[in-house]
Amino acid sequence: MLQGKEILLGVTGGIAAYKSVLLLRELTKEGANVNVIMTKSATNFVGPLTFQTLSGNPVTTEIFTLFASSEIGHVALASRADLLVIAPATANIIGKIANGIADDFLSTMVMATTVPVLFAPAMNTNMWASPVVQRNISSLKTMGYNFMEPAEGELACGVTGRGKLADIDAIMDEVKALLSPDDLKGEKILISAGPTEEAIDPARCLTNRSSGKMGYNLAAVARRRGAEVTLVSGPTAELEAWGIKVVKVKTAVEMANAIDANLDGVTTVIMAAAVADFRPARQAAEKIKREAGDYCLELEPNPDILAGLGRRPDKPFLVGFAAETSKLLEHAGEKIQRKNLDMIVANDVTAPGAGFSVDTNIIKIIDRDGQTTDFPLMSKEKVAGAILDHILALKQKRRRQGQ
Ligand code: C5P
Repeated sequence: MLQGKEILLGVTGGIAAYKSVLLLRELTKEGANVNVIMTKSATNFVGPLTFQTLSGNPVTTEIFTLFASSEIGHVALASRADLLVIAPATANIIGKIANGIADDFLSTMVMATTVPVLFAPAMNTNMWASPVVQRNISSLKTMGYNFMEPAEGELACGVTGRGKLADIDAIMDEVKALLSPDDLKGEKILISAGPTEEAIDPARCLTNRSSGKMGYNLAAVARRRGAEVTLVSGPTAELEAWGIKVVKVKTAVEMANAIDANLDGVTTVIMAAAVADFRPARQAAEKIKREAGDYCLELEPNPDILAGLGRRPDKPFLVGFAAETSKLLEHAGEKIQRKNLDMIVANDVTAPGAGFSVDTNIIKIIDRDGQTTDFPLMSKEKVAGAILDHILALKQKRRRQGQ
């Protein structure tokens, strides 16, 4: 995702400085070239050699050594980089930038750069809540600087509250968002993800092998590209994505209700959830005991959520999924018509690298007019991007045709 991107990573003097080593690892793993700038106090927490080794670039620590050729290069980087991230950002650096103080390399660079700047603050809870810090942040926000909300939890100083550095995953997501085009701005997308769970008794349930990865990736990528996203999710182990409204459900009926309750203004619905077609006709109040002989579980049908949406007069753009084990195109094509969809994403869940629980997928997209587009094996993050591109292209085509 970050191949060919130039990122400047500013590290300031807080205990969370060690976590920015992990952020650096993630940034380079995704292909970015990272140049690190440390404040003097940051070097008390982590040695510059760690950042230098892991980034493969010299680390700048002092403004007064600027005349070394490598650091003149750093100055040039301020204008040529794609993004500057400051993680952790102390109350001190936030205060300095908000008030125009440029007395070291990092604060000078922030003042000199024209690229987007992302602050990931980390500090003691009382410092975070202080009116001075909050005033500085709100004035920086109005000037166009971007901020991560610190996380809540136990801080290094022993206090519990808000002030922890945001999760590295969340910072990575925001980095990608700032580097993505805003081509989905104005779209309000509702995505369903994961399996559903239908109780048989208090201890047992009917569910399926969906991990939720496809839907969560769709939600994260759509949000990064500027869409307003609601994710209606069945039970999954996926991490909640940053900047997205998440509604957790268990059963198909709960999913149908949650979708109904969140449809206002929605332009596109993507049903990536593996919704159970049937549920037990009765739910036993007590755990069912083993008895001699067969046990017969009576099932009744669940509502078909997608087909229900397809029947609405005000139906949004509808995208369905077809997870099949045979006759992929035949089944997908039939589903498009029967459920009145705009497009369907089909995948053979038995193919290696495709379907449930894996991080990759092999899909075909089938349009309403029967046109089929094949995609190679890709990460679910890339598949999400391809699906969203296809939705945009179809919508543009329709607009051109005046439909
Ligand atoms: O008919 P089938 O279950 O294979 O259709 C799959 C598509 O329909 C998926 O997009 C799935 O999310 C959706 N679906 C639904 N409600 C159901 C079953 C499936 O919305 N009860």
